[in-house]
Amino acid sequence: MAAARGEFSSRFGFLMAASGSAVGLGNIWGFPTNAASNGGAAFLFMYLFMAFTLAYPALMAELIIGRHTRSNAVGALRQLSRGPLTKKLANFVGFAGIVTVSLILSFYAIVSGWMLAWLLNSFATMAGMESASTWLTSDGETRNAIFSIIFMLLTVVVISAGVRDGIEKWASRLMPALIIILFMLIVYVLTLEGAMDGLRAYLVPDFSRALQPGLIISALGQAFFSLSLGVGTMLIYGSYLSSKENLPAVGTLVALLDTGIAFLAGLLILPSMYVALANGVEIFDASGALVAGPGLIVAVLPALFETMGSAGVFVALAFFILMTIASLTSSISMLEVPVAYVVETFDTGRRKATLLIGGMVTIICLVIVFNFNSLFDLVVNATTEFSQPLLGLFFAVFVGWVWNRNGVLQEIQKGSPEVEHSFFWKVWPFYIRFVCPIAILAVYIQIIFF
Ligand code: PFF
Repeated sequence: MAAARGEFSSRFGFLMAASGSAVGLGNIWGFPTNAASNGGAAFLFMYLFMAFTLAYPALMAELIIGRHTRSNAVGALRQLSRGPLTKKLANFVGFAGIVTVSLILSFYAIVSGWMLAWLLNSFATMAGMESASTWLTSDGETRNAIFSIIFMLLTVVVISAGVRDGIEKWASRLMPALIIILFMLIVYVLTLEGAMDGLRAYLVPDFSRALQPGLIISALGQAFFSLSLGVGTMLIYGSYLSSKENLPAVGTLVALLDTGIAFLAGLLILPSMYVALANGVEIFDASGALVAGPGLIVAVLPALFETMGSAGVFVALAFFILMTIASLTSSISMLEVPVAYVVETFDTGRRKATLLIGGMVTIICLVIVFNFNSLFDLVVNATTEFSQPLLGLFFAVFVGWVWNRNGVLQEIQKGSPEVEHSFFWKVWPFYIRFVCPIAILAVYIQIIFF
């Protein structure tokens, strides 16, 4: 099977794919609103702290396992296992990752579908098609079902084309576009009245909140979700990475790109909210907190775009293109996890496997669409707060406790022969063995019991 596996053609291709997975709705929507509701820069600092002390080591664990085993999540952990017990654990963690990521994709496709509908609305508005515009922007089950299906189709098309012709090709085109659009939007919004108040709300820290348990949990959850950890996504991308690559360096670049773009998204979203306030749009909810959830993206920001006159249509178009790109480069990484498993385990063709899994995820997605109130939050919380950190912990345990230290070192040395004497190798093995599992467990116990 090994000969049939894909491989990224260049470091740039890998970086775009992995940072494309990391940069998603979690960065452009989740991070700024989390920051806004948790003491601005106090959250930013805690998030950066979590991202580099806990999430980055966990990211490295997944990349190293993937590259060493050149296999999907289940196969990879099984290869590292040394006895029947760890083999059982490998099966459980690998499968749990595949199920979790499929469920994440099923709710992600719904929200991404909203972004697509709003994107299309910009064209409908330009063409003066009022009734189409009303339909596209009203939260109806039919609209949500149709656009989730369209989004899943886009994801399936990219993944069925394979690692180089699908994932790498599209990530390499879309990610630079995303960065350019993000910069252009930031520059434009910062020139508007009210933007400076937003910058202040974002960047002036309220340190009295920095050590509150709620903030620490949110920051860790945000960092894990944002780096796509615990579900085998980074493992599978690592398995397509050339042995010549310096793993600690590429991992650092992915973490920097991810946190950098989250930080930049904060420079767009919070100032935009305060510009909206200056234009008469309500940005606080009944409890006095900034509007965060779906209301922010599908109510506050569109209301802002409307107050911008004719420029508003183009700003809205750029914004929803940005959101759609961010969603798609993440969703393809999610679908790749179960697809790689099916292709490698059952010797199924990629196209067939992609259609099969894509179809199954779409069905789950539709079940959520038609039972939105009872299922959506449940699936989001169960996967991102419960499952992702716990599975991340197990990945750390596999590298820190199941795999032997020498094997890990040899894998990293393939692309960085000097690593044994580096700061990374002095700190990381200890981190992945002790600090990551204990810290994740501590936060986890907080979530479950308090
Ligand atoms: N990292 C993505 C985001 O921030 O939106 C979400 C994500 C992608 C989670 C891939 C999990 C995953 F496997």
